[in-house]
Amino acid sequence: MPATIVAGNWKMNTTLEEARELAEGVRSLADNTGGVETILCPPAISLSAVKEAVSGSTVKVGAQNMHWEDSGAFTGEVSPAMLVGLCEYVILGHSERRQLFGETDAQINQKVKAAFRHGLKPILCVGETLEERESGQAREIMARQVMSGLDGTVGLDINGLVVAYEPVWAIGTGQAATPDIAAEIMGGSILEALHSLFGPDADDIPLLYGGSVNVGNIADFASQSCIHGALVGGASLQAESFMEIARLAG
Ligand code: G3P
Repeated sequence: MPATIVAGNWKMNTTLEEARELAEGVRSLADNTGGVETILCPPAISLSAVKEAVSGSTVKVGAQNMHWEDSGAFTGEVSPAMLVGLCEYVILGHSERRQLFGETDAQINQKVKAAFRHGLKPILCVGETLEERESGQAREIMARQVMSGLDGTVGLDINGLVVAYEPVWAIGTGQAATPDIAAEIMGGSILEALHSLFGPDADDIPLLYGGSVNVGNIADFASQSCIHGALVGGASLQAESFMEIARLAG
């Protein structure tokens, strides 16, 4: 059985001081989440402060993005080598990166491979747009994003890999997918793609749902056998709601 994971993607929110306070708030509630693994993904500039704030607790830290090269002339970028020691996880291929910053499947694949090379655990995000869903392409596109994101990883140690299904139309809209829609994609094309790559090992990969998750809907998602937790945006910016989501996911 995959671990149950609830990760908070703070996106481009929180100053350094706010990040520290939020992480301390999460830490103070960390005993109430049973066996659920909680991960905080603050802006890169706050990783160090958040790491310090949660040190000694069960709360883990993740980055929101990274480049695939170790170093070089890439102004403004953060490399995997820089993240090592600062965080355990890294979100890759978030739809905001794909849509607003033009990240391609091939670049995301480079990042995923770089994460494995450095012992970072990738949270690979996939998700279809509303147009893609309405034109009946959601399954096919989800399979493609998984296959291309993980191209060339068969045979690597993929321990720690997490896949998050975040339908673009459900992100930040307050219109979460229904648990049935999420389960159809996650237990269907995503899991099938993972099986075709990794065989039975695919059954150990945690699959997270993301898109307008809140305290009111997490239990319905978590009750689906193919959903092992959530990647939470807006509701992760408040320690109590984030940790209540984690508790309810368990
Ligand atoms: O990565 C989390 C995310 O994109 C979902 O955001 O605000 O809809 O929970 P939100």
